[in-house]
Amino acid sequence: MSQQHSAAPAPTSAVSAVEGRPDWWRDAVIYQVYPRSFADGNGDGMGDLEGVRTRLPYLRDLGVDAVWLSPFYASPQADAGYDVADYRAVDPMFGTLLDADALIRDAHALGLRIIVDLVPNHSSDQYEWFKRALAEGPGSPSRDRYHFRPGKGKNGEQPPNDWESIFGGPAWTRVTEPDGTPGEWYLHLFAPEQPDFNWEHPAVGDEFRSILRFWLDMGVDGFRIDVAHGMVKAEGLPDLGDHEQLTLLGNDVMPFFDQDGVHDIYREWRLVLDEYSGDRIFVAEAWTPTVERTANYVRPDELHQAFNFQYLATHWDAAELRTVVNRTLDAMRPVGAPATWVLSNHDVTRHATRFANPAGLGTQIRLAGDREVGLRRARAATLLMLALPGSAYVYQGEELGLPDVVDLPDEVRQDPAYFRGAGQDGFRDGCRVPIPWTRTGPSYGFGDGGSWLPQPADWGGLSVEAQTGEPGSTLELYRAALAVRRERADLGAGDAVEWLRAPEGVLAFRRGEFVCVANTTGESVPMPAYGRVLLASGEITEAAGEAKVPADTTVWWSAS
Ligand code: NOJ
Repeated sequence: MSQQHSAAPAPTSAVSAVEGRPDWWRDAVIYQVYPRSFADGNGDGMGDLEGVRTRLPYLRDLGVDAVWLSPFYASPQADAGYDVADYRAVDPMFGTLLDADALIRDAHALGLRIIVDLVPNHSSDQYEWFKRALAEGPGSPSRDRYHFRPGKGKNGEQPPNDWESIFGGPAWTRVTEPDGTPGEWYLHLFAPEQPDFNWEHPAVGDEFRSILRFWLDMGVDGFRIDVAHGMVKAEGLPDLGDHEQLTLLGNDVMPFFDQDGVHDIYREWRLVLDEYSGDRIFVAEAWTPTVERTANYVRPDELHQAFNFQYLATHWDAAELRTVVNRTLDAMRPVGAPATWVLSNHDVTRHATRFANPAGLGTQIRLAGDREVGLRRARAATLLMLALPGSAYVYQGEELGLPDVVDLPDEVRQDPAYFRGAGQDGFRDGCRVPIPWTRTGPSYGFGDGGSWLPQPADWGGLSVEAQTGEPGSTLELYRAALAVRRERADLGAGDAVEWLRAPEGVLAFRRGEFVCVANTTGESVPMPAYGRVLLASGEITEAAGEAKVPADTTVWWSAS
């Protein structure tokens, strides 16, 4: 593990160099790069920062406003970098701090903003503080920075409470004390290699405010906050009791998730961020029970955006979609924050696969499904998302219509949830397969040295090269949609939609001169032609003022 922060480059890019509207983020389209799977600059089979840097022009041409990078910090990679061993260093497998500096500068020069991932709920078990806590033993002040407790039972052989890890198994691991005896237990809501910080300890807050400044000084434009709903635990770490944790997760406030105390942390962080120029932002990864609780994270003195996971989890169903859109806009309006729409990320089944699943399967289940139907719905869902007021996130590869890889052999899997066998399904590797850039060649242009997860044999046909300039390709659909969004302020702006009358299974709404119609049914439907077709995810035919909108298709019209 390198300790590169002593050699940090002088923070000359401290002022974000991107010119733009002060509220750029309110309707921004932000592209998620999963660094290990985006582009491999040094040919070792693993994506890296140099790979990302060289592909920035692709992202500029795609038409996104900013790039969020999943963690690239020094890490033993027990959870693909969400186990951080040094928050101020780049892991050698991704490059160096100088590479990060070059990436930020080049992005700014292209007009792209950079958002980094901050992981404050837990560290790696290889983080200095945790190693010290283990070495110094029970009762030492260094143990107070984490949640160490004696076990229950005669000899402390049972965990201190009944919480389960999100990845399966108990949320506690017992340590062997320096004298060799079995000793205290520590809390880890995720893998045992990810001990949870004790945010009641003032040193934890001090450390994270310092980490924020480190990256702000490096010139980043914002932070995605990992497990933003998790840092504060209910006093006394109470048992859940008879409740089935899995059914409560995401449906209720838990003693370890979405506790009100977490908001005090964000108020402090907001003060730090606001000291810096350049309209930098925070986006929360907060899985809360309701959009109303999500809105708490984006009150004016807290964070800027919070992913709308209720939307992500909604089926391809007009009535359900309309309900979640209305509820979201109603919840965000009073706090003055934009809605933040998202359909895919590195933790859930890609939407081109998910939307082919039978309704009710959830966001984690990967079935092969009907690829054609899945892709048709995914394209339609994307145009619908990009027509809604607010900001939207795009996960790398969705612009290529990539499906999840559902047949990875067990021996190549790396998702820790897979090895813990319960909780999450452990198949997140399926949405993390390196993306194809070229029709042929080793790893389809991902890099010169293969790919850390095997790519399916037909991925050349889905590559950037194969789809570029190809009329009707998913890549060209995304490019066209983002170009329209850039030209027309009415797409992402505002906080309301005006619903239009539409047959069952069809969503239709107006936003100023702009009309969006999404047909979620398996049949083509007749709709009035609302003006000039700006874009459609399928073939529209029009005659005598009427348009036929095919099954699973979204159309954008302009009245002018
Ligand atoms: C959410 C991240 O997106 C996920 O990949 C990770 O496993 C957990 N948080 C734990 O950090």
